Amino acid sequence: MRQALILTRGSGMVLETHDGRRLLDAIATHHNVNLGHCHPELIRAAHEQMQSLDHVLTVPGFTNEPLVNVTKAILRNPLPGMATIFYTLTGAEAVEATMKMARYYWHALGRSTKSKFISLNLGYHGNSFATLAATGRDHDGLPSASGRRLFPAFDPLPEGYVHVLGPYDFHDGSRSAEEEASAACDALEKRIAREGADTVAAFLFEPLQGHNFYQPHPAYYRRVRQICDDNDILLISDEMITGFGRTGRWWGMSHYPGVEPDLTAFGKGVTSGALPLSGAITSAKVWEVIQGHAPKRSVEITGTYGGHPTLCAVAQRNIEVLEEQNLIERVDTVGDYLRQSLRRAFDGPEVFEVRGTGMIGVVEFKVGGDTDALRQQMALEAFLRDVIIRAERGTVGPLISITPPFIATEEEIDTVVARVHEAVSVALAAN
Ligand SMILES: Cc1ncc(COP(=O)(O)O)c(C=O)c1O
Repeated sequence: MRQALILTRGSGMVLETHDGRRLLDAIATHHNVNLGHCHPELIRAAHEQMQSLDHVLTVPGFTNEPLVNVTKAILRNPLPGMATIFYTLTGAEAVEATMKMARYYWHALGRSTKSKFISLNLGYHGNSFATLAATGRDHDGLPSASGRRLFPAFDPLPEGYVHVLGPYDFHDGSRSAEEEASAACDALEKRIAREGADTVAAFLFEPLQGHNFYQPHPAYYRRVRQICDDNDILLISDEMITGFGRTGRWWGMSHYPGVEPDLTAFGKGVTSGALPLSGAITSAKVWEVIQGHAPKRSVEITGTYGGHPTLCAVAQRNIEVLEEQNLIERVDTVGDYLRQSLRRAFDGPEVFEVRGTGMIGVVEFKVGGDTDALRQQMALEAFLRDVIIRAERGTVGPLISITPPFIATEEEIDTVVARVHEAVSVALAAN
């Protein structure tokens, strides 16, 4: 068995190991440590809060100051329509909370047959049973009757979760972005017709999929919203990675004005990963129906730690630091620098595309051979050069993604790009 690497310290973009290696965390751990590791302001916020009120249960009739304050902070930069926030701990729990609200909404309206969830083939939504079922991605590549396999070790997964192709599935260089959007919308319409709109509660998606970080053409979300409206289907946006600035806007859906999700799940970047906090945001439309149905009853969303004061205090300070230091604007500038550097380094015939939005850089390759082995080798070679990146199976070929913390300097980006270029060259030469 390979020995686990023992990480002992973190600071900014650097992680130190017990044996003195200094790794560049070029994916901000899980696209979430946006202020960098061990940010002093977040440590201070946790320390101060724990000295006054560490933890208290948040049930109807009880709240706490940090919860009220962080709710105001989150809603300072809302998407249109955002109304109420329920706090959870992990991303999976938050996504599941949005799905529970969607079902609650349809039950409250007396339309209980509307229970299914449609999500995208390459979407990722978490590791709980429901979010695994909503996760459509071919994680392990094992064949199944449907041609796709979802963590078979945990079968049977809950029923009522169906998947459709998204724009990135059509992104092979043969169509325009609008044609990809159109093909993906056709797939969604067909699937709704096949299932029966009366059986579908919601369509769940990530504004920018963490698998491939491909940004769909605005026509996609405009028509998706229309299709959902025409069929009485709620729209759930999973902003786990895209929320709180990763794409250069507060929300991934801020890139699509006029398209309002009915429910939004967030997590990860809300505390820059320093502590686990997540949440489900309802639109006024959904919230009014739920409240009208159960004004005095608790909506069973959160558990023991929902709305934990210390987590909320850290999230509030995180949002303040993002605002005070204009970090989301910085994301755009340094992100552009990252992509320019990647384009300069990766300009050979083996490159299909360099892409990304905000603080995201992706290189997708068009090469043959065992592309799964190749992408793993790319990530390993980068790791041997003390850089942590991600590598996935893309539509055309293997892809690598780089999602640094927002505080990454141009010098750090230069080092990452140079080492990753060397790593990929070695992997490609051995392919
Ligand atoms: C888009 C998306 N949704 C949900 C999740 C699940 O979040 P967590 O791992 O905190 O449960 C993730 C985690 O990677 C994610 O990227």
